[in-house]
Amino acid sequence: MPDSVEVTDDGGVRIIRMNRPEKKNALTQPMYAAMTRALGEAQTSEAIRCIMFAGGPGAFCAGSDIGDFQKRAEGGLEPVTVDFLHALARNQKPLVAAVNGIAVGIGTTMLLHCDHVVAAAGSVFSTPFTKLGLIPEAASSLLAPMRMGHARAFALLVMGRPLSAEEAKAAGIVNTVVDAAAVEEVALKAAREIAALPAGAVALSRQLMRGELDDVVKRVDIEAMHFKERLKSDEARAAFAAFFARKK
Ligand code: COA
Repeated sequence: MPDSVEVTDDGGVRIIRMNRPEKKNALTQPMYAAMTRALGEAQTSEAIRCIMFAGGPGAFCAGSDIGDFQKRAEGGLEPVTVDFLHALARNQKPLVAAVNGIAVGIGTTMLLHCDHVVAAAGSVFSTPFTKLGLIPEAASSLLAPMRMGHARAFALLVMGRPLSAEEAKAAGIVNTVVDAAAVEEVALKAAREIAALPAGAVALSRQLMRGELDDVVKRVDIEAMHFKERLKSDEARAAFAAFFARKK
């Protein structure tokens, strides 16, 4: 059984790869914990100058594991996810993402914390929160309207309308759209380019551009409070059950 999150360091670039292909890289609580650790270690390492998120061919990430959502609705699991969202919001290292395939829920909202995103043509970005009886997370209710304006953010986050790679580029989530075979290479090239820049100047520039981190963390917490309640709602429970019953 391969690790479901692989962490490798390539020169100054830390690659955090979600690797649960049989479930389209849906994130379990141990996967969130592993990603939080990988981000945390990178903060104190001078050698790591850029972090790259990657998935696999066909799936960047199918969002949080809906089975875990069900357990959380029953009070069974700790909210390890929130630790990851804090780590993402407080992260000081430049973040690159290589998206090849579907990016659902957190698979899309984590990109709002990234500084440079390369996507394969054919990738699809979606956040079906309300369809699941849930609300936006990862401070996306704050960051998405800032990034793409209220109307486009509403279509994405509330109406659950997916974005193609080109639409995600037009919305300011994605920098470059390339052939699937080239995604990792192009993203890694950008990550190495960032890693080769003077680290202090990059860190300060990034910090200034990102604004007040406490506002982002506060939004993560407010959303998390509502999200937790929504997980127990009849709307959410019915949507989770429908997801697992859809193939029967
Ligand atoms: N949680 C748990 N399992 C998931 C999952 C998730 N978020 N996403 C995919 N899976 C599982 C499927 O249940 C399936 O498992 P099975 O083979 O045991 O039946 C496997 O991954 C492959 O998914 P499948 O639906 O067969 O692939 P697909 O290509 O037809 O569709 C998706 C891919 C991502 C569009 C679809 O699986 C989906 O909508 N997933 C849910 C995404 C979601 O709502 N995430 C939460 C956002 S807040």
